[in-house]
Amino acid sequence: MKIVFATGNRNKVKEAEEILGKGFELVTPVEAGIDEDIPETANSFRGNSLQKAKYIYEKTGLNCFADDSGLEVEILGGAPGVHTARYAGESRDSDANMDKLLLEMARREGEATAMRGLGISTPHATRRARFRTSVTLILGGETFFFDGTMEGTISLEKRGAHGFGYDPVFLPLEAGGRTSAELSDEEKNAISHRGKAMRAMAEFLRSKIEGK
Ligand code: IMP
Repeated sequence: MKIVFATGNRNKVKEAEEILGKGFELVTPVEAGIDEDIPETANSFRGNSLQKAKYIYEKTGLNCFADDSGLEVEILGGAPGVHTARYAGESRDSDANMDKLLLEMARREGEATAMRGLGISTPHATRRARFRTSVTLILGGETFFFDGTMEGTISLEKRGAHGFGYDPVFLPLEAGGRTSAELSDEEKNAISHRGKAMRAMAEFLRSKIEGK
């Protein structure tokens, strides 16, 4: 089955091909004739993945899927959320993003300590965080959603050289004290938000094909 994946990222295409397995031919938007940037202006991960998938479907009429991911940090009230990629600015610089995150968290923690010093009761800060992925699949004109999360905490400093984005400051609950950047690709895919959402979609697609 030919299916358009709304990404320009070759690594993501490779990862999705491995998860989907035989029987699926993945095509990028450019290969499907879409040269322009696909809009991504919603205020939720699901909203963004739906917006991207709908855009491709309306332009091409082909089966397609899109994903959208980000990080939610409890002490920051769920930020950076849909702003994860551009948290420290349009350059999407991972180091700048992580520095801003560690700084904002330290600032909030400092504020909470100061409030407690003044006798104002404040809940104790946690470093809990989660990555979320939302995948929207449009198949034969029908829309389906698949979600995945990876729970964890934010470390005090960057560690590890694998992965991308915020991996050096994310400690997955299931990784025994290592950051995501200290996991191999296989280890990370087995527990990651994107891995979970993509495997859920793959299982659904295979059941559709086998059911026919
Ligand atoms: P996207 O929607 O997959 O492009 O993800 C948005 C942003 O979230 C990325 O630019 C990264 O900064 C961050 N992100 C998403 N997934 C991960 C991950 O697995 N590890 C680290 N950062 C991630």
